[in-house]
Amino acid sequence: MVGRGRSPDLNRHRIALIPGDGVGREVLAAGLTVLRRAGEVTGSFELEVTDLPWSCRYHLEHGRMMPEDGLAILADHEAIYLGAVGFPGVPDHVSLWGLLLPIRQGFDQYVNVRPIRVLEGIESPLRAGTGATVDMLCIRENSEGEYAGVGGRSHAGRPEEVALQTSVYTRHGVERVARYAFDRARERGGGLASATKSNALQYTAVLWDEVVEEVARDYPEVPVTRYLVDALAARFVSHPASLDVVLASNLYADILTDLGAAIQGSMGLAASANLDPSRRYPSMFEPVHGSAPDIAGQGIANPMGAIWSGAMMLEHLGEGEAAALAMRALVTVARDGPRTRDVRGSGSTGEVAEAIEAAVGE
Ligand code: NAI
Ligand code: MG
Repeated sequence: MVGRGRSPDLNRHRIALIPGDGVGREVLAAGLTVLRRAGEVTGSFELEVTDLPWSCRYHLEHGRMMPEDGLAILADHEAIYLGAVGFPGVPDHVSLWGLLLPIRQGFDQYVNVRPIRVLEGIESPLRAGTGATVDMLCIRENSEGEYAGVGGRSHAGRPEEVALQTSVYTRHGVERVARYAFDRARERGGGLASATKSNALQYTAVLWDEVVEEVARDYPEVPVTRYLVDALAARFVSHPASLDVVLASNLYADILTDLGAAIQGSMGLAASANLDPSRRYPSMFEPVHGSAPDIAGQGIANPMGAIWSGAMMLEHLGEGEAAALAMRALVTVARDGPRTRDVRGSGSTGEVAEAIEAAVGE
């Protein structure tokens, strides 16, 4: 052991690792290296990792993305660290509904947290995109809304074929995610922007607005602004400094956070946490990007989104000091290099990971 070494009260955190497909395994390997190093330096914990092969490759062999008792296997862990799933050969709705969404819904991970920050040394496509102007925290409703999975198709293949997909907004669902977002806004001393579309969606989005307004009464110190989601997308680009905590539904936040990732400078930088704040179930930490089949296997994927997500996992596990070390190291390497080519560098995934690992100990 390096660093302060093994102490008698070393925490052992049981982590389920789902590298998934494509670059998933490459970026998680990098992430684990950094997280383990942070544990060595603080001397506070070790990770006990269960490596699970669930993926599209697994699907081709077994006809499903994960075993039938998959959730029961995961439930025996404190957290899940996931790479990405999806690969040509298995339709995307099969990979998503066979693994990611059942985990998010089955473990009631009703909050998806996505930081959007421009790091020094990384070029944002926004002329005014710097750490001083872009520092948001997007809170995505992660259990219902447009991704509730309610709907159906009939008259398959006939001219009158019909597909219906219903959004499900519940008072309970909106209230709990709004409370989480207001708590974070209060912590950050910032304002809250609520994404809505209540001009056109007079049922779901109006319920959303009403509940957000009700919750806001409990947080008089948090300024709230309601934005139509299309206008909010424009504001991400035109006035990012005016945004702090952004609260949005499942679909809207999905779209806004890819815009956020682009503003950050690369999909490979974006991090996320799927949280069950009640801690009845394990929470899941994953980079926002997908399996990137176009660059998979080349060792050039940016590991920073995975490492950032890993730091969020450490925070959740109560390892705040190690999380801060990992984040500080990531910020240092973003500034000084090496960087991968998606952010104008020439380093490999491994070189970037090694540099961040080394910076953790400095
Ligand atoms: P993607 O995020 O995999 O790739 C989009 C673009 O970003 C590509 O040009 C890719 O090379 C680049 N990129 C992504 N991650 C990168 C990284 N770490 N470093 C450098 N460049 C990176 O999204 P795409 O292409 O739409 O989807 C590919 C597959 O991934 C599909 O099967 C899709 O369903 C799946 N997917 C899975 C997700 C998940 O598991 N959470 C999320 C998004 C997509
Ligand atoms: Mg997405």
